[in-house]
Amino acid sequence: MSDTLTSDLAAAAAAPEYPMERTSRCPFAPPPEVMELAAVEPLSRVRIWDGSTPWLITGYEEARALFADSRVSVDDRKPGFPHWNEGMLATVNKRPRSVFTADAEEHTFYRRMLSKPFTFKRVEGLRPAIQKITDDHIDAILAGPKPAELVSALALPVPSLVICEMLGVPYEDHGFFQEHANVGLARYATAEDNMKGVMSLAKYLGNLVQAKMDNPAEDAVSDLAERVKAGEISIKEASQLASGLLLAGHETTANMIGIGVLALLENPEQLAILRDTDDPKVVANAVEELLRYLSIIQNGQRRVATEDIEIAGQTIKAGEGIIIDLSPANWDPTKFPDPDHLEVQRPNADQNLAFGYGRHQCVGQQLARAELQIVFSTLVRRIPTLALAKPIDEIPFKNDKLAYGVYELPATW
Ligand code: HEM
Repeated sequence: MSDTLTSDLAAAAAAPEYPMERTSRCPFAPPPEVMELAAVEPLSRVRIWDGSTPWLITGYEEARALFADSRVSVDDRKPGFPHWNEGMLATVNKRPRSVFTADAEEHTFYRRMLSKPFTFKRVEGLRPAIQKITDDHIDAILAGPKPAELVSALALPVPSLVICEMLGVPYEDHGFFQEHANVGLARYATAEDNMKGVMSLAKYLGNLVQAKMDNPAEDAVSDLAERVKAGEISIKEASQLASGLLLAGHETTANMIGIGVLALLENPEQLAILRDTDDPKVVANAVEELLRYLSIIQNGQRRVATEDIEIAGQTIKAGEGIIIDLSPANWDPTKFPDPDHLEVQRPNADQNLAFGYGRHQCVGQQLARAELQIVFSTLVRRIPTLALAKPIDEIPFKNDKLAYGVYELPATW
């Protein structure tokens, strides 16, 4: 056996378990074990649920380079792909292809169908509606009892209402889709439960696509229904794309609002900068810094190498799995000095990777930004004395979901 092969095998045998969890000791920081790996080198081996040992990318430059590398694939049918869990592996041939799992031209084909409602211009036009939804929810909080629970009173309903409106999904059904989204996005759910969550949602949206084929309206599901009618995609593909939008469109932003408010309350001098400004650029930068600091997507972006790739003195071989972990990359001190400090005026905060990078970079990022800018700035201005109603160590954190956040945020004023 060659020396390199022996040392490769030894490194793989010693690989730590992934995913790792954040701790309540420092609830905003990436998992301490991830930061320990990151301190040694920008990529290392980890062991996942099936015993395989993909590469974990923790360095900022390396993450960006691999996100942009055409030798890196998101096709989860390829051997060596590091699946999240057994459920994702079990459903791999049952799930129609989608924007999340397609490469190159196939990816462009799907992405074109989704991007229209989420362009900068279209989202700018939605700002008055988002502002109104936000103000209505804050009015209700101010009129209601103290303390208020901000996840159910603000963080979850605002992005859910916005995405329902954009997709043309009836908001009355939010109980149903939030429940299935919860199971579909659980990190440790059983294969059966995961599959049930994902499939029930796809079925619900399949019915909606069919309904919109007969009665189209001005919304994104009607746009997809139109593509089905034109013979470009199947109903299954349309429902897969729509459920991706519905899931990604409320759950992520909701978590970012909840934990973002908590991070601001824990950093009152930073909250004051946001509260005391009228400058939209200052607000926008604060949101970028919160996205960087909190990096809520916590299962790593999964990929597989299709050719050998030399990077940072290592070779990722064709067929080896790659997990790009956004939180250590956004806490890479060579890119963001003192990364553990929330600095809403950090000059390069907008270079964060919270939405990924390259061709799969988040479709909904402009929408998420608009929602976060409006919600954070309106909340801290309208309730300037906002305060946590419980000690932070009694706040329940979401370590068991794809997106990190808080389950509850009791606040008073
Ligand atoms: C704070 C909120 C959000 C965060 C942190 C976030 C994060 C991300 C990240 C990291 C990716 C890259 C995936 C990868 O490269 O593997 C992504 C992709 C995606 N996001 Fe978001 N997202 C957010 C909000 C949204 C919203 C509001 C929508 C839809 C309305 C959305 C829809 C999507 C879609 C469809 C993709 C797949 C894009 C592709 O593969 O081409 N996201 N998001």
